[in-house]
Amino acid sequence: MKTSKSQAYFQQAQEVFPGGVNSPVRSFQAVGGEPLCIAKAQGSYIEDIDGNRYIDYVLSWGPMILGHAPKTVLEAVNKSLSLGTSFGAPCQAELDLGLLLKERLPYLEKVRMVNSGTEATMSAIRLARGVTGRKKIVKFIGCYHGHSDSFLVQAGSGVASLGMASSAGILPELAQETIALPFNDLEALEAVFEAYASDIAGVIVEAVAGNMGLVPGTPTFLQGIQKLCKKTGALFIVDEVMTGFRVHIQGAVGLFGLEPDLVCLGKVIGSGFPVAAFGGKAIWMDQVAPLGPVYQAGTLSGNPIAMTAGYAGLSALTSEVFKAIVEKTSYLVEGLQSLVEQYQMKLQVLSIGTMFGFFCSDKPVTNFELSQASDHELFTQLYNLLLNEGIYLAPSPYEANFLSAAHTWEDLQETLTAFEMAFKTLKEG
Ligand SMILES: Cc1ncc(COP(=O)(O)O)c(C=O)c1O
Repeated sequence: MKTSKSQAYFQQAQEVFPGGVNSPVRSFQAVGGEPLCIAKAQGSYIEDIDGNRYIDYVLSWGPMILGHAPKTVLEAVNKSLSLGTSFGAPCQAELDLGLLLKERLPYLEKVRMVNSGTEATMSAIRLARGVTGRKKIVKFIGCYHGHSDSFLVQAGSGVASLGMASSAGILPELAQETIALPFNDLEALEAVFEAYASDIAGVIVEAVAGNMGLVPGTPTFLQGIQKLCKKTGALFIVDEVMTGFRVHIQGAVGLFGLEPDLVCLGKVIGSGFPVAAFGGKAIWMDQVAPLGPVYQAGTLSGNPIAMTAGYAGLSALTSEVFKAIVEKTSYLVEGLQSLVEQYQMKLQVLSIGTMFGFFCSDKPVTNFELSQASDHELFTQLYNLLLNEGIYLAPSPYEANFLSAAHTWEDLQETLTAFEMAFKTLKEG
């Protein structure tokens, strides 16, 4: 594929942006080569500035569950644009989205809109610390909760892709208040609660981790976290920024029947606009300013265009639409699974709801350590062969992939054919 325009773009972009990008994992450092500069996107396709079209399984890292540029969202946004782009005051669109979120996620008693997942998780732990008066936060190694200081301790996603354990610039006195434990290891959590219970403000988890590759939490692990939190008064926080409306129509909370104190939402709820939220039990949310002493604010929070987009997108995501995407995701993964067996590839493939992932590994991956131990060299080779065939997957072994309502059966067939060609090439050496 000819990518000379993307290459020229990237040359220039490196003079302007650190590493040429505005978010690290876009840099393609984990898979070699250079990122594509995208000109447009429609349905299940993205197109780069050289005119190459790709079946897109990144979907802007999850939000585009209806596919790119869905008509219902575009129409609603166009109508809203003519009414003004930002008010910095209450508007009907934010109430519409808030009510819809409450209707879809019955455990959500109150919610606060923010602009990014990072803001949502950062605010949720401030709230946990504020209401408990405790300092420590427990997170799990390889889970990513955005880039605020308390969370960049053994995080997944871009941090892992760049081989960084943490980030420079984080005060050790703050980092030491974050306890990072192995994912799916309830015993480790029990030991920490035994030692520090009265200091733990909250435990935050991606119930299905999507930032170390795709790794589901086990029901025992997740219920165990919930039980320990209940017993000790720590807040149980489920980070659904990626999994919300993705692993189940009611997110991971619905999938596992959890009862969190707080959840963080993002991605899908904004239909590709900068929207996220945190919410949960009213007893905690009523401690947020202006009602309570935990301060949180935002110039563009509840932006009318973004709220309108989120509302239109989520309204169109009915359970029938969701079910159809899950069906296609399962079809793709089952097809992949038979190819893996046929070609005896060192590959673990799995899907959960509308998300799928694969590890170049002989055995199932249940935590970050095993994800790290998978064959990254093989992943890179496979990634680039597929990209050449017009399949755009997340450019890192530490990321999940996504399907949308716009992916057709033909797209899936084409993807399976591309995988088969890649497997053949790899086998032929
Ligand atoms: C689980 C999870 N939490 C939080 C975030 C941070 O969200 P944002 O990138 O919108 O700040 C992400 C981003 O991928 C995420 O996957």
